[in-house]
Amino acid sequence: MLQSFAQTDRTFQYYRVKAMDLLEWSDELSVGIDLIDKQHMVLVRTINLLAMAIEQNSERELLVAIFETLADYTRTHFAYEEELFEHYGYPESNLHKQDHQALTDQVVSLKNRFEAGENNPGPEVLKFLVEWLTGHIMGADKHYAPFLQKAMREQNHRNGR
Ligand SMILES: [Fe+2]
Ligand SMILES: [Fe+2]
Repeated sequence: MLQSFAQTDRTFQYYRVKAMDLLEWSDELSVGIDLIDKQHMVLVRTINLLAMAIEQNSERELLVAIFETLADYTRTHFAYEEELFEHYGYPESNLHKQDHQALTDQVVSLKNRFEAGENNPGPEVLKFLVEWLTGHIMGADKHYAPFLQKAMREQNHRNGR
């Protein structure tokens, strides 16, 4: 019994380290808007969770469920950003929305492929997802950061906060 606990613990540590190795949150990924950073962290964690499940040779159902979570939360997060664009009048909103649509399509099509019985996802899918997320955050999201930060500061100021 004791030994199996020790074994479980070691296994857990191992996968935790492996998962953290895949994509670690860093300040480099921050857009300087707290709630957005937190949403991005959830996406980072979901990708790490998928990596862990793949490492553990998890059943297809679990992998599909994690993909579903990723696709759902991606939609939620993108909708939130788009609401901010609308609210603060971000001039490059249309281009950014097109990016969101393309990224959503990509993750949904990956999910559908595995759901339809294609081989389980491997390192190349994880690599794709890491680039899929960090590429967008470091590019398009960082691009709106100064505009939104300023607009939010001004609104807080007007509201006397
Ligand atoms: Fe984002
Ligand atoms: Fe975005």
